Amino acid sequence: MEKNNRGKFASKLGVILASAGSAVGLGNIWRFPTEAGENGGAAFILIYICCIILFGLPVMIAEFMIGRNTNADASTAFKKLAPGKIQWHWIGPLGVVAGMMIFSFYSVVAGWTLNYTVQAGLNRFNHMAGNGTENVFGNYFSNFIADPIWPTIYLTAFILLTHYVVAKGIEKGIERFSKIMMPTLFILLLVLAGFALTTQGAAEGLSFLFKPDFSKINSDVILSAMGQAFFSLSIGLGCLCTYASYFRPNVNLTKTAISVAGIDTFVAIVSGLIIFPAVFSVPGMEPSEGPSLVFVALPNIFRIVFADYPIVAYILPFLFYFLLVLASLTSTISMHELVTAYLHERHHISRQKATYIVTTVCLVFGILCSLSLGSGSVLNIGGMSLFDLFDYLTAKWMLPLGGLFIALFTGWQLERKIIWEELTNKGQLSFYGFKVFMFLMKFVAPVGILLIFLDQLNILSFS
Ligand code: PFF
Repeated sequence: MEKNNRGKFASKLGVILASAGSAVGLGNIWRFPTEAGENGGAAFILIYICCIILFGLPVMIAEFMIGRNTNADASTAFKKLAPGKIQWHWIGPLGVVAGMMIFSFYSVVAGWTLNYTVQAGLNRFNHMAGNGTENVFGNYFSNFIADPIWPTIYLTAFILLTHYVVAKGIEKGIERFSKIMMPTLFILLLVLAGFALTTQGAAEGLSFLFKPDFSKINSDVILSAMGQAFFSLSIGLGCLCTYASYFRPNVNLTKTAISVAGIDTFVAIVSGLIIFPAVFSVPGMEPSEGPSLVFVALPNIFRIVFADYPIVAYILPFLFYFLLVLASLTSTISMHELVTAYLHERHHISRQKATYIVTTVCLVFGILCSLSLGSGSVLNIGGMSLFDLFDYLTAKWMLPLGGLFIALFTGWQLERKIIWEELTNKGQLSFYGFKVFMFLMKFVAPVGILLIFLDQLNILSFS
């Protein structure tokens, strides 16, 4: 049942940019500075980089191998590689459900970034500021996200944008748009970092990011860093496995994974270089501000720091939120594709119909997630808004669970011959670290991930 009409990425650069596009997103520019800020800065970053190398990279390479070898969506892939062994077959559907849940709540935040881009474009932030004594940006943000109408409109616009790209297919949609959006994103990122480094908080920001205070390292920091690594690399749900099914046989999987993880980490750190110098430029502003750092603190910071240069104070927030829109879009495209490919190939629904189904279902759940943030909303389960519940269930449970099983599958089930062939492109490339790779897959990654779980279950209490 080989599918000959499956799309393929046309170039190796397209492969890297599309995969990096999936990885680079709100997780880097919004979640990473928040986590780093709350967990002590440089010490967190150091642990985060260790997690990327020890767990992230091996699992990413495994997803690439599974996807390319089977030429199939993430669910069919496990069936093909382990026929009859149903214990492995639910990894695919688990990832698909996680993908839909992430797509739903992630689009809510992506919608906020779209709104902030529009508001910045209309120069609303500079007018909004008032006399600076009240928390105008905080009030604006909480009123906006609790509003039943506007966030829904922006969220819908965002999901339709994602739909538009996915509907165009692999090469003409995902690859072409990634090739435009990712370089734009890199340029914006560097321009913004350049500006941030001219602020008076630059030295303090740099030392927060790069001078580790080892006394800050504890188990919570380690576990947060591990969770962040999974979310940020888009691993554990078969998303990169699906992308890899569109890779050509000559793509070097290890090199691609190293490039993607490298770009992802680079973007996360440069985002820190934008945000922390800016934060330290304003007295009273704290890096541990939390999730509102990007939506509440930053508009204020831009306004105060560049008060003498109104053009800069106008243009920088616009560029920053536009950057967030681009980064979110390349990520939501990959979540959409994960589910679309699954419906199309596993359930033989036409690709066009599958695309519409995913868009509609995620739109409904996205709207529910957004409405759940309104005050007094009934969309609360166990004291958690639907938005928070989806975030919690996916990032803390479903992705690590998927990652654990992908590692176990590769380490203990997948034929050595297949692993070797995928790593060396059937003997055409040399690969030196095979034993190390297998050791990471068999032991290091599963044990590390298991620790996250035990902590979530409060079975282990490290701190
Ligand atoms: N890696 C993305 C980010 O850092 O924003 C989030 C993400 C994308 C998670 C795609 C999962 C996924 F399948």
